[in-house]
Amino acid sequence: MPDGMLVDYDGLIPNNVGLNQDARLRKALETWHPGYIDWWKEMGPEGFQESLVYLRTAVSVDPKGWARFGYVKMPEYRWGILLAPAVEGRRIGFGQHKGEPAWQEVPGEYRAMLRRLIVIQGDTEPASVEQQRHLGKTAPSLYDMRNLFQVNVEEGRHLWAMVYLLQKYFGKDGREEAEELLRRRSGSRDAPRMLGAFNEATPDWLSFFMFTFFTDRDGKMQLEALAQSGFDPLSRTCRFMLTEEAHHMFVGETGVQRIVERTAQAMNAAGIEDPTDVERVRALGVIDLPLVQKKINLHFSLTLDLFGNEVSTNAANAYNAGLKGRYREDKIDDDHRLLDSTYPVLRLKEGRIVEEQVPALSALNMRLRDDYVADCRAGVERWNRVLEKANIPFRLTLPHVAFNRRIGEFAGAHVTPEGEVVDAASWAARCGSWLPSAEDGMFLEGLMRPEYAPGRYAGWIAPPKVGIDGKPGEFEYVKLHMA
Ligand SMILES: [Fe+2]
Ligand SMILES: [Fe+2]
Repeated sequence: MPDGMLVDYDGLIPNNVGLNQDARLRKALETWHPGYIDWWKEMGPEGFQESLVYLRTAVSVDPKGWARFGYVKMPEYRWGILLAPAVEGRRIGFGQHKGEPAWQEVPGEYRAMLRRLIVIQGDTEPASVEQQRHLGKTAPSLYDMRNLFQVNVEEGRHLWAMVYLLQKYFGKDGREEAEELLRRRSGSRDAPRMLGAFNEATPDWLSFFMFTFFTDRDGKMQLEALAQSGFDPLSRTCRFMLTEEAHHMFVGETGVQRIVERTAQAMNAAGIEDPTDVERVRALGVIDLPLVQKKINLHFSLTLDLFGNEVSTNAANAYNAGLKGRYREDKIDDDHRLLDSTYPVLRLKEGRIVEEQVPALSALNMRLRDDYVADCRAGVERWNRVLEKANIPFRLTLPHVAFNRRIGEFAGAHVTPEGEVVDAASWAARCGSWLPSAEDGMFLEGLMRPEYAPGRYAGWIAPPKVGIDGKPGEFEYVKLHMA
């Protein structure tokens, strides 16, 4: 295996960044470590800190076979600092420094902008752990519980990844930011997490699967854009995070798919032909498809807000500076400077949604969001194939991008999921059929009863096709330790 691929597990902090040769950094991280463990114990999965969980841990950064599986108590998980291998002779791929050698140190003129990008990314990682901390208690199976905890420990590791960059490259203010990342709390009034969607509740497992499908996918897009960065340590960090993120996408997509599959089976078995006959479907103890659609509407619109304003000078500056690229920048065939090109943006003009060409540099948030929407759409189509196969006359869709928005062009506008602009009164009258209601929430809450027997699944979700790490159906993914 080439140098730098193997992870050093000897010290307190596993790493492939030569921590042993950097006494100052090692000291800083070891000082931060106890606060992190306290945070994990306080805000991590509640009630399962003593349980043995069958988790994967990275042992190398080689894309072929980087993980090892084994039982671990979560507070003893080996969170570490892992960077994808350096690409020799790597150059900045876009913006005004295009073609110059990639930076190995922070370029002074961009220090503040770079720190901000890292802090915003870093803040989302612990936030999702906080949002999901109660879900173990209602897990529909040990398999699902294990997947939840896997996602959680990896989000913890992603926090480590960002804290490493702050501590190594940003001196005193980097250390202060690292402390702040442990101080803010999802949903807190005094010290909330930085972005809206990361302060929302994740009260049930349908929400969890939607969150990992939609919101972790925003994470994937942001990481893809940062993986293009001319600041090489950020690029390498994000490239390795993306290999972990793939599992989070898998958990979300297959979770919803298994719910849809179970609902379709139950409807067919009971001879229910009308998917909108919510009462009869719910009486079977499965989740009705209109409710799945409402959750899509909610999580999709909340997540679109994370992309920021459609037209943004911050995004233009970060691109120009070579700090944050486009999705798969290195695969795009153009000048990678975008000084003379335009990009179409949807805007609200005199009560109508119109498309407008704007300078491509200022439309980078919009472009990343478009790439995101395309990625989401492919997943939704895979869910629909389950319905098609089962002969259920219902199709899931993504709502219009202007629906239910709080940030950007459509903030506060009243737009239906079909993209029709309506007045406030008709929006209010109809929004109960578009977004989950209190009653929907109560129904889901009633369904959320834990199923802890190995190999068994709650009645509202189908078992997975294959186990994790090739394990058989009755495998005990979590050995519970009930206090
Ligand atoms: Fe993450
Ligand atoms: Fe994630």
